[in-house]
Amino acid sequence: MNLDAETLSDRDFRRMQDLIGGECGIDLAASKRVMLEARLKRRARAVGAASLAAYCDFVQRPEGRAREWDSLVDAVTTHKTDFFREPAHFDYLADHAVPMLADTSGAGTRRPLQLWSAASSTGEEPYTLAMVLSECAAAMPRHDYRFHIEATDISTAVLETARRGVYPETAVEPVPLELRRRYLLRSKDRTKHLVRVSPQLRHQVTFRPLNLMDQDYHFDEPLDIVFCRNVMIYFTRPKQQTILQHIVSHLRVGGYLMMGHSESLNGLDLPLEQVTPTVYRRRDV
Ligand SMILES: C[S@@+](CC[C@H](N)C(=O)[O-])C[C@H]1O[C@@H](n2cnc3c(N)ncnc32)[C@H](O)[C@@H]1O
Repeated sequence: MNLDAETLSDRDFRRMQDLIGGECGIDLAASKRVMLEARLKRRARAVGAASLAAYCDFVQRPEGRAREWDSLVDAVTTHKTDFFREPAHFDYLADHAVPMLADTSGAGTRRPLQLWSAASSTGEEPYTLAMVLSECAAAMPRHDYRFHIEATDISTAVLETARRGVYPETAVEPVPLELRRRYLLRSKDRTKHLVRVSPQLRHQVTFRPLNLMDQDYHFDEPLDIVFCRNVMIYFTRPKQQTILQHIVSHLRVGGYLMMGHSESLNGLDLPLEQVTPTVYRRRDV
C-alpha cells in the first residue's frame, strides 16, 4: 500500500477519534479528518509503518502506545501561541488582579502569588506572565513581591522547547522593547537570529506535563490565577464542563480565570462570575 495515495478508512478514523477523545479530550470532528490523515501519515512514515491502517493498529497495542504516545499527542495537538497573545489579559493582570489579590488575600506580599498556565504550549504565555509579574514586583514599594508560575501541557515536546526558552527573534516582536532588554538575551552568534529567556525569568516558571483529563492535577497550594486559553475549543461541551469544574476547584475564592477570546463559558455550570470579557472570578459556592 502506498502511504501517499492511502486515505484514512472510516473504521480507523473512528478508532483514532475514540483513542484521542478518550485520552486527551480532543474532539476530532469530521471536519478534522483531512488534517488528522495528513498528521498520521507523517507519524506512520516516521515509525516505518507500511500503511495508515498498520499505524492505527500499532498505536492501539500497548507496546506501540508506549513507544508512540508522546509523538502521536504532539502530532494531533495545535500549539499556536505567541508572546503577549491577547494582550488585554496581561493589562488586566497588572492593573486589577495583582493589586486586588494583594489587598484581599496578601497574594504576593504575605505569601507567594500562585499562577497556573494550563496548556502553556512552547512557553510564550508563561514567560509573558513572568515578565509582567516581574514588572509588578519591581514597582512594589518594598520590592518583596513573590510569585510562582506553574506551566503545564500534555505535549512533552512543547514542554522541552519551553524549558529551553530559546526563540527566533521574530517570535519576540510582540514583546515591548524595554522588556526585551530586561528579560531576553541575544545569542552570541548574531547570524542565528535567536534570543534566550534570561535565567532569572526561566527560574520563575516550573514546567511539567499535565493532561487536563487527569483525575488529579497535583497542586499543593490553592491557585490565585489560572490562564486556560485556547485549549477548551478542542473539547466537547460536556468535557469542557468536567475539566473547567476541576480547574476551578483549585482556584481560591476571589481568584481569577482567564479564557481565550473565542471561548465562551455560556451555558456551563461553574462557580464563576464574569468581571470583563473572558475574565472570570471564583465566587463562593
Ligand atoms: C493553541 S495552544 C494554546 C497555548 C496558549 N495557552 C495560548 O493561548 O497561546 C493549545 C495547547 O493545548 C495543549 N493541550 C491539548 N489538549 C490538552 C490536554 N488534554 N491537556 C493539556 N494540554 C492540552 C496542546 O498541546 C497545546 O500546546
